[in-house]
Amino acid sequence: MSRMDVMEVFNGILFPGHLHTQDSLEIALKFPFQDTDILIASYPKSGTTWMQEMVTLISNRGDPHLSQTVPNWARAPWLEQHYFAAVLEASSITPRVITTHLPHHLLGLTLQSSKAKVIYVSRNPKDVLVSFYHFHKMANFLPEPGTFPEFLNRFLEGTCELTSRKKDTFIFQCLVTIADFMQLDEMYNILSHLFVPVSYGSWFDHVKEWTSQTATMSNLLHITYEEMSLDPHGTIKRVSSFLQCPLMDDEVNNCVKHCSFSSMKDNKMVNYTQIAEEIMDHSKGSFMRKGKIGDWKNMFTEEQNQYFRSVFKSKMQNCILEFVWDEQ
Ligand code: A3P
Repeated sequence: MSRMDVMEVFNGILFPGHLHTQDSLEIALKFPFQDTDILIASYPKSGTTWMQEMVTLISNRGDPHLSQTVPNWARAPWLEQHYFAAVLEASSITPRVITTHLPHHLLGLTLQSSKAKVIYVSRNPKDVLVSFYHFHKMANFLPEPGTFPEFLNRFLEGTCELTSRKKDTFIFQCLVTIADFMQLDEMYNILSHLFVPVSYGSWFDHVKEWTSQTATMSNLLHITYEEMSLDPHGTIKRVSSFLQCPLMDDEVNNCVKHCSFSSMKDNKMVNYTQIAEEIMDHSKGSFMRKGKIGDWKNMFTEEQNQYFRSVFKSKMQNCILEFVWDEQ
């Protein structure tokens, strides 16, 4: 199956061209949020689809009808994707649930003008990386991931080839700056295929930017994938109370049941099996792959773990939150 991995470069970040255009990205930054909106923000592979399901179930007091009849991308569409406006207009679902992978520095300004409730989902970056690597194999709208060590370097450094050599990163950044200044879209495209930085930007910047807002934004709730996994009842209660939608115990139990990994794996509205083969090659993997904490241990060598930890330590040193992801 051939790839349809043309990328859009927007503000120095690569986005899959199959889902994003310059216009759709520009429009996203000016979106007039309403105070009643719920925004789910995350870096890809952090548990976005899971949170979409939780929020849908909570808003429906544990009744799975909506989550089993309307695809997740139609009931919680991605703000920056080109179909967003049409889907939102056609939908009568309230409250509106919107999803985004955009970094906070692009969206923060427009969010400031509303009291929309924002749920930011993060996950152990090593598990994000492993999940993203497998996803790249099946998602034909993303570039080939290469080998796992290559992908690991791209994730950590932002470039593909010869990634441990800072000189290449520096040259890439210079060329991108020139292309940006001269508005050379073609040059951007060539560069992106030469160096292939990881799509959606740096995990480190994404998480640092969004989580640093928790100190000042009272309408922002930060939830981790690990918390969702280890304490689903507690998470549902936390999210429902944040959304001012308190639930009875049996409603909480129904939410937990219908957003379990096994339920979601079988739900065609969220498992992406309805997506055409040329977009997602299901012979190369499942979207609902493992749904586990700590799968990175099956992929990382000890050396890669040490390298990851040192990069993590240096990139996250000015992060206000202390992350407690299992490092063993
Ligand atoms: P794995 O590839 O590790 O299995 P996103 O929706 O942000 O793209 O994240 C996808 C990841 O979340 C995948 O991780 C997927 O299996 C996992 N996931 C989705 N629903 C889940 C659930 N109910 N329980 C646990 N993990 C879930």
